[in-house]
Amino acid sequence: MSLGPATTIARLREQVGDLVSAHRSARDLRAFRRYADDPIGFVRRVLKGEPWARQEAIAALVRDHPLVAVRSCNSAGKDWIAAALSLWWVYARQGLVLLTGPTQRQVVEILMQGEVRRAFARAEDLPGELYQSALRVPGAAHAGILAFTSSEASRMTGHHAPRVLAILTEAQACEDFAYEGLLACATGDGDRVLAVGNPLAPTGRFYAVQRPGTGWVSLRIAADEHPNVVHDDPDRIPGGVTRAFVGPRTRSTTSGSSSTGGRRAPSPPTRWRATWRSGSGTG
Ligand SMILES: Nc1ncnc2c1ncn2[C@@H]1O[C@H](COP(=O)(O)OP(=O)(O)O)[C@@H](O)[C@H]1O
Ligand SMILES: [Mg+2]
Repeated sequence: MSLGPATTIARLREQVGDLVSAHRSARDLRAFRRYADDPIGFVRRVLKGEPWARQEAIAALVRDHPLVAVRSCNSAGKDWIAAALSLWWVYARQGLVLLTGPTQRQVVEILMQGEVRRAFARAEDLPGELYQSALRVPGAAHAGILAFTSSEASRMTGHHAPRVLAILTEAQACEDFAYEGLLACATGDGDRVLAVGNPLAPTGRFYAVQRPGTGWVSLRIAADEHPNVVHDDPDRIPGGVTRAFVGPRTRSTTSGSSSTGGRRAPSPPTRWRATWRSGSGTG
């Protein structure tokens, strides 16, 4: 028996895992509408987060452009802002977020049970029920988050909810058919697709969408722009990229930096280096 896309969504909804946290706030959802065009205000005031400049730039791009790709080294803060924008989309735009990535660990542990859960907990009273791989909002039928691995994403093709934000994390490792599936779900005027990843190889769909002429807007974040690196303070954004990992080019400008204690830092694994040197642009 072949299942239609609507059934697939229904099944995904059933497979959302255990309830993790519930806010039974009576707060009227309409209160968040004032942030519909102000994702940064939502992140700062509702989620009580402090995005750094490039995370604010990502928020503005997602507000303004249908197709956005962001590439950087690991720990630049892509997932943190992707999670925050998911909540903005749910509460301020009352839309559906389809969140995907190549592994269960990435999608459920790092995003849903990591960044989304922490932001939901830190926020002022957001009404909703957070499950392992979904967020439901009582009284808002079309608003919520559904998270699934990219191998499941192709089955979403043909699903049309109003106001979809599709997010691909570790987008360099998401299958081409996941892009097809999610792009087919986000064809409406107000829909958005955000792909964030690591520019590991100049191949694949994540690389291709960032070539000129594709219609995607792309943004590159260099590790040495990160506040931890700029201020040589690994505690400024705990867990963020540090000067010790950025490598000799940046460290040489501040020899004897305290973060390495004068020791020679290990050479950074390739995954820390953002390649494809050219900066941001409109494809
Ligand atoms: N603005 C921020 N405020 C607080 N913590 C942040 C912020 N941005 C990122 N982080 C934290 O920094 C770490 C790395 O961020 P992450 O989003 O996982 O990076 P990436 O997805 O680019 O690898 C995570 O622990 C995350 O929670
Ligand atoms: Mg990440």
